[in-house]
Amino acid sequence: MSELGGTEGREERVLVTAVGLEGESSLEESLRPQTLEEMVGQTRLRENLQVFVQAARERGEALDHVLFYGPPGLGKTSLARIVANELGAQFRATSGPAIERPGDLAALLSNLEAGDVLFIDEIHRLTSTVEEILYPAMEDFQLDILIGEGPSARSIRLELPRFTLVGATTRAGLLTSPLRDRFGWSARLEYYPVDDLQQIVLRSSRVLEMRIGDAAAAEIAGRSRGTPRIANRLLRRVRDFAQVDQGRDAEVDGLRTRDALERLDVDEEGFDRLDRSFLMTLIEKFDGGPVGLETLAAAVGEDKGTLEDVVEPFLIHRGFLDRTPRGRVATRAARQHFGFSAEALPGGVERDGQGRLI
Ligand SMILES: Nc1ncnc2c1ncn2[C@@H]1O[C@H](COP(=O)(O)OP(=O)(O)OP(=O)(O)O)[C@@H](O)[C@H]1O
Ligand SMILES: [Mg+2]
Repeated sequence: MSELGGTEGREERVLVTAVGLEGESSLEESLRPQTLEEMVGQTRLRENLQVFVQAARERGEALDHVLFYGPPGLGKTSLARIVANELGAQFRATSGPAIERPGDLAALLSNLEAGDVLFIDEIHRLTSTVEEILYPAMEDFQLDILIGEGPSARSIRLELPRFTLVGATTRAGLLTSPLRDRFGWSARLEYYPVDDLQQIVLRSSRVLEMRIGDAAAAEIAGRSRGTPRIANRLLRRVRDFAQVDQGRDAEVDGLRTRDALERLDVDEEGFDRLDRSFLMTLIEKFDGGPVGLETLAAAVGEDKGTLEDVVEPFLIHRGFLDRTPRGRVATRAARQHFGFSAEALPGGVERDGQGRLI
């Protein structure tokens, strides 16, 4: 049940935020792949999606609801748009935190047309009252709304057109199971291997009309933490350095790229300051762990959620960090990366300027 009213304008605002982007974000928009064909990597996912889209199109039906989940910057939002493009459907975007009240969602749903793709980003952040509106809408394409107030209030049921809900989340574990169960297909996005990232960098450099060699693209790819968004961001920074140091039309080579990335403080594993301070704190202050995330977050001076969603998944993926029931533990690989001996450090060990043991 929900109340309608006071929602005018809100939906519009939500839709505008997805479109009215400027500067860096509009660059990010221009780099987004528009079709499954243009999207690099995630082969299994793309092949499956291709089948589901084609099947739905041939039957003239809306695609079943889809959930994309995985770490930030791997292509969930891009995929949601691609789904709409491939279906030839209208794309409507909103996000969990933007839908404050049940009426907001009711307004969005009642404005949908048959076959539309409704994209809800950060879907794990929907409140439970909003989620309850979503269940019958997803399952039976029905919307129950409450009209009026007090004793004269009555509820009416609206039939909704068949639409496709595309949900995206970095935290699939936080989704309630009734919500998760209503998706016809859930797909996990994986970190990209370096080869795929190199293709992405080369593709983006063509969009940006930049001249860049294969070695330079590989250098960026290797330091992008498996993440296309990071690859594109590093590419843009490398472009800035090249433009200022060499002039606008210069070809960017491997050496210059390496130099630029070093100036950006991105190391060979792609770790930036935050990754390094996270691991170094764990190793130096807590003897490699185990230590609870709260304690670690306080010591690093960073928000716990950011560490959990943004920093940790890649460190775990690369085998630098373990999540154990007793807390976070730095692995042997992490110790070695920072020049510590592979064994746990006794307190007060001395190291040279490069962090190596003396
Ligand atoms: N497979 C891909 N091929 C080419 N470019 C990609 C691919 N995946 C992502 N990108 C690029 O990476 C950028 C980030 O992707 P996107 O915004 O879709 O990630 P996301 O998973 O939605 O991230 P978040 O969780 O932060 O919302 C896009 O602008 C796009 O240019
Ligand atoms: Mg996104």
